[in-house]
Amino acid sequence: MNYRTYGKLGIRGSAFGLGCMRFNGPASGDSTIDEQKAISLIRRAIDGGVTYLDTAYVYLGKTSEIVVGKALRDGYRDKVTIATKMPENAVHDRASMQALLDEELAKLQTDHIDFYLMHGIDRKGWEYFKSIGAPEFFDDMKKAGKIRYKCFSFHGSYEDFEYIINDSDWDMVQIQYNFMDVNNQAGTKGLELAGRLGIPVVIMEGLLGGRLAKAPANVQALYDAFPVRRTPVEWAFRWLCDHPEVSVVLSGCNEAEQIDENLRIFDSVGPGVMSAEERELMDRVRAAYLSRTKIGCTGCRYCMPCPNGVNIPGVFSAWNEVSLYDTDPGHSWDLKRIREKGEGADKCVGCGACEAACPQHLSIIDGLKQAWSELTE
Ligand SMILES: NC(=O)c1ccc[n+]([C@@H]2O[C@H](COP(=O)([O-])OP(=O)(O)OC[C@H]3O[C@@H](n4cnc5c(N)ncnc54)[C@H](OP(=O)(O)O)[C@@H]3O)[C@@H](O)[C@H]2O)c1
Repeated sequence: MNYRTYGKLGIRGSAFGLGCMRFNGPASGDSTIDEQKAISLIRRAIDGGVTYLDTAYVYLGKTSEIVVGKALRDGYRDKVTIATKMPENAVHDRASMQALLDEELAKLQTDHIDFYLMHGIDRKGWEYFKSIGAPEFFDDMKKAGKIRYKCFSFHGSYEDFEYIINDSDWDMVQIQYNFMDVNNQAGTKGLELAGRLGIPVVIMEGLLGGRLAKAPANVQALYDAFPVRRTPVEWAFRWLCDHPEVSVVLSGCNEAEQIDENLRIFDSVGPGVMSAEERELMDRVRAAYLSRTKIGCTGCRYCMPCPNGVNIPGVFSAWNEVSLYDTDPGHSWDLKRIREKGEGADKCVGCGACEAACPQHLSIIDGLKQAWSELTE
């Protein structure tokens, strides 16, 4: 395992952090959690050297923290740092923030949270958190020993990121970053800014929710032509770990094999690991992906549940799958299941609830219309 010093905090931890948002299977899958399987995956990762777990109040229908708490019994708590988050829509004053934190501590069966994040903010979210006194609350909870670090996770523009990171004394930031997102959201500029400030950066969606794990034919051809053979997942993580500003790369894993592969990959990566030829390869891979991607949905499910029953991430996943992998829509397993369950985009009434919740700021309503006409015509 590649262990890194987390920026100005000076603490050391694993470069691979386990994301606890996706134990429910692929984005289009069912949303029930297999508790025993999730616990065994978490412990497998820790036994393999992972020291960083990322969860959130809202993940998996508010059950993720409970499962993490159970997994960390029997001495596992002492082996890891836990990151969890405060969602904007669950708090409105100091009393509700205190109640939420206490609930999260109880669910996680711990007396302190290491990294406590304002969840998925952009500038608007940050202004809201300021208006209810969240920064002061976080500082007080640090003094009380209930949290160790004041942090935020981010989905927004680079300009918002620059404003927020300079507007408070942050201990850590979590951003979406991968070889496709160099100019998206905080992007490379945001990563480098955090690095200059000495603020550790935790990466989410390093595989774009799994999309970068499965190379379409035009991308696979580029990988195959390179003299050194690596899996698509290895290329993606290697590219991330090459950046010295990155402290932790989170990945949500659904199978023991994925944990094992990721543990293997993180054994042999580190800052500066990529050669000039490898970096140039990834530039070409990015261009190849962009030429075939329909919509930048990562399947995070923040838009769900749709009040009208549309399986939004499922429809977008099918749309991208059909385009990226030249799949006949009639052979798309995702699409078949969506149609059988009556969760298609034909149910969309354009209410826009999804667009307000989407961290990627996607035009979901138009995207659904377009996707459905291409998938079903
Ligand atoms: N704060 C926020 O706003 C926010 C937003 C999003 C995520 N997060 C956090 O960041 C974490 C990481 O994001 P993410 O889950 O989107 O990570 P990711 O690494 O981009 O995607 C995870 C998915 O990649 C696939 N995968 C992982 N390892 C693999 C392997 N070795 N081989 C093949 N496929 C592999 C799995 O897909 P399949 O399911 O298809 O097998 C898995 O579900 C989340 O779990 C969550 O904790 C935070």
